[in-house]
Amino acid sequence: MQERLVVEAPAKINLTLNVLGKRDDGYHELETVMQQISLKDRITLCPGGEGIKVQSSSAAIPGDEANLAWQAARLMFEEFSIAAGLQICIEKNIPVGAGLAGGSTDAAAVIKGIDRLWGLHLSPERMCALGLKLGSDVPFCLVGGTALARGRGEILTALPEGPRLEMVLVKPDFQLSTAEIYQNFRLGQVKSVPDNQAFLEAWRRCDIMALAAQMKNVLESVSISRCPEVAVIKHKLGECRALASLMSGSGPSVVGLFGSREEARQAWKIMKDQYEESYLVSSYGRGD
Ligand code: C5P
Repeated sequence: MQERLVVEAPAKINLTLNVLGKRDDGYHELETVMQQISLKDRITLCPGGEGIKVQSSSAAIPGDEANLAWQAARLMFEEFSIAAGLQICIEKNIPVGAGLAGGSTDAAAVIKGIDRLWGLHLSPERMCALGLKLGSDVPFCLVGGTALARGRGEILTALPEGPRLEMVLVKPDFQLSTAEIYQNFRLGQVKSVPDNQAFLEAWRRCDIMALAAQMKNVLESVSISRCPEVAVIKHKLGECRALASLMSGSGPSVVGLFGSREEARQAWKIMKDQYEESYLVSSYGRGD
């Protein structure tokens, strides 16, 4: 058994997000393009000791059973009858409560790490089915790259390698509850929806302008009613010449897409003077 294993856990953003309706199980039926980005947590797994322990570089996430990484380890240990201790160290770089799947990606990293450390050789499908028990975004975090997601977010179609996206990510000093945003979403109040088919065609042609035109998130208006800063950041990114700016997931993080790394860097310099949690990021492919 290896002494320790380091697993990278990239954040996800939504390049489009459409809600098709509410389901009988309380979840919403989604059609969304998800993208992994270069902003990432780093998870170190050290087998040994007593029970499952979580340590983190951030006070903003729980160090006990409430942490999704802890739950992922317990789920794996129960499922595969592993009686062992495990220390999970989380280097937290992804903002918390931000719509960036920070908890889900840590959980996905723990599933992958345990699979490797204990030589389980699980199929991606098996890992995704286990991950879905922890959260709707975990399957995507396991698969990575760029994908069209349907259902709760777990029915994934991987997209081919597309254009490299240069972006600025801004998180206002505010956290939103995903459950609360979805609860207050009203299909009848949606004014503009992304055309995912048009997005996918633009993606295949690497046509940045055409895909920017479809970068829309129908949850934005609900999140803006609770955190008006989302609209302010969108506007400011537009002033910095973003080709598109949209909220990620249920927010409140906002992503601005730029025509080049240099343009993104210029915008980042302006935004980071106003928002401490501003990041210069790029899209992450499955091979990165
Ligand atoms: O799956 P997860 O626990 O991450 O979802 C958090 C909450 O977000 C759910 O309890 C649900 O209220 C809402 N949600 C939803 N439809 C989805 C995904 C999440 O309503 N497809």
